[in-house]
Amino acid sequence: MEKILVAYSGGLDTSCMLRWLAEKYNAEVYGYCADVAGLVPSAKREIVRRGLAAGAKKVIIEDLRGEFLKDFVFPALEADAVYEGGYFLATALARPLIAKHLVEMAKKLKIKTVAHGCTGKGNDQVRFETSIYALSSNIKVLAPLRFWEFQTREDEVAYARAKKIPIETRSKKYSIDENVWGVAIECGSLEDPSVAPPADAWQMTASRPLGKERKIRISFRRGIPVSLNGKMVGSVELVSKLNRIAASYRIGRSDMVESRVVGIKSREIYEAPAAAILHAAHFDLERLILDKETLHYKEKVAKDYAWLVYSGRWFSPLREALDGFVSRSQEKITGEVSLLLKPNGFEIVGRTSPHSVYRRELATYSEGDEFNRNHAEGFIKLFSLDIAKKR
Ligand code: ARG
Repeated sequence: MEKILVAYSGGLDTSCMLRWLAEKYNAEVYGYCADVAGLVPSAKREIVRRGLAAGAKKVIIEDLRGEFLKDFVFPALEADAVYEGGYFLATALARPLIAKHLVEMAKKLKIKTVAHGCTGKGNDQVRFETSIYALSSNIKVLAPLRFWEFQTREDEVAYARAKKIPIETRSKKYSIDENVWGVAIECGSLEDPSVAPPADAWQMTASRPLGKERKIRISFRRGIPVSLNGKMVGSVELVSKLNRIAASYRIGRSDMVESRVVGIKSREIYEAPAAAILHAAHFDLERLILDKETLHYKEKVAKDYAWLVYSGRWFSPLREALDGFVSRSQEKITGEVSLLLKPNGFEIVGRTSPHSVYRRELATYSEGDEFNRNHAEGFIKLFSLDIAKKR
């Protein structure tokens, strides 16, 4: 009997898929659920219950948040990778991690076929399949949403009912992907990019009274955030806590039309409160510490890094090589950034580092100036020589 490992979320698509694959291929199906969001125990139990009811031989859930942050999110943070100016890549960074675990689990269970529930229009299919092909030479990938008979959500609901698969019956207004680094929301009324997102589209930053102005401090060690308000905390706790705090100020929302890998533009909204703050604070420290040439070069690298992540080419030689450059650039990115959180935004209000290259005695316009301004005239004459009119 053929065995198939399904990247399982507990949602409608992948629940139908378990049964559909089992019947169509006369296969033994297994569900693998990568927990990158921090599922509560009741949610995990429900995913297992649904998967088994849908026909899975086994449903495995693994909490991958620590590895996700350490090996995928933080390298991208160190690289200052942001896609098209507004997307901190939460979904895009999770896909290669999930693919890696699917490949490992498939090997462990001696399974040769892996299936996922991505549509044929999105980036996630590209990321999953590219990653699986990069990591394994003999795993076959099935993407039933690209060829099964169901055209609409209603078709799937009818199928689930007929097969007695327990599903969420509330109709969904949006398609949502959430993990500890951020939430992506698309579809429904969001498909008109000229219209503001309805209030109910926001998942993390909605419907709470806005917080009062408050200062926070974040410390970085070699480019990695390690403490919040002077207290050392692990990565999962730091990011989760910062999400909770910053979400109450509606920090980290973005609303954008983005260029997908498959050629279309799509309107997407994002919520990534911790990511917005950590990216801003990290870059702020780099401005304090890095020499200007490394800083400017790194800004170019950031764009390429973001594209590699977005386009699913995490497991590529270029990403590894760029990581070499990025890690070297982070050796001195140690210090603390102070921020003022306020309704709908935040400001960076201070930064310190033992490796700061800011020198007050050179920058000052007051007492104690050590800058030799007599050198400026000659410097400017030579600096402008090639473009100056002959005089
Ligand atoms: N557009 C984003 C990306 O390509 C998010 C896709 C997430 N999926 C969703 N169902 N909202 O990474």
